[in-house]
Amino acid sequence: MITFKPVTEASIDALMAIENACHSHPWALNTMQSCLAGRYFNLAAFKAEQMVGFYIGEKAGPDFTLMDICVAPQFQGQGIAKQLLNAFISYGEQHSAENLFLEVRETNTRAIALYEQAGFTEMSVRKNYYPSDDPAKNGYEDAILMGMTLLFG
Ligand SMILES: CC(C)(COP(=O)(O)OP(=O)(O)OC[C@H]1O[C@@H](n2cnc3c(N)ncnc32)[C@H](O)[C@@H]1OP(=O)(O)O)[C@@H](O)C(=O)NCCC(=O)NCCS
Repeated sequence: MITFKPVTEASIDALMAIENACHSHPWALNTMQSCLAGRYFNLAAFKAEQMVGFYIGEKAGPDFTLMDICVAPQFQGQGIAKQLLNAFISYGEQHSAENLFLEVRETNTRAIALYEQAGFTEMSVRKNYYPSDDPAKNGYEDAILMGMTLLFG
């Protein structure tokens, strides 16, 4: 059974282990530390006592942004990211967000499929936004900006 709870800096090692296993260009430790309080919010998924995934969100007035979402490689494909993303959307609904945003690498087809399934749509392209190790990309990769409007009433 998967359970969910927000985490604090006390869990930073478990977060960073998943972050480093998931991304070609992971966040630095100090970036992760700075995204666990203040205008940021998060939720982590646990199997028994083991952290298996997390998301980090940011509030800016009525606009909430999904900054990061990761599921440890050995736990991928089990619907955990879908549950985390649904929790991010629910958090926005419960905290009066009007717009949800995220950025994703143009080559990250898994994540794009996840977001589209949840109702996010492409809004624009940010050219050369991410660093890339792909020699065909001259060191950078485009980001797709995706969004969702939350309706009230
Ligand atoms: C993207 C990621 C978070 C998905 O996590 P996950 O727990 O495996 O995803 P889920 O099992 O919840 O699958 C949810 C949806 O994602 C998509 N998806 C997941 N795995 C996929 C795959 N191998 N191929 C294509 N789509 C896939 C599908 O739309 C899937 O829905 P479906 O099963 O109904 O088809 C995970 O692969 C990951 O951590 N990747 C590295 C970090 C990353 O890229 N994060 C996004 C940064 S913007």
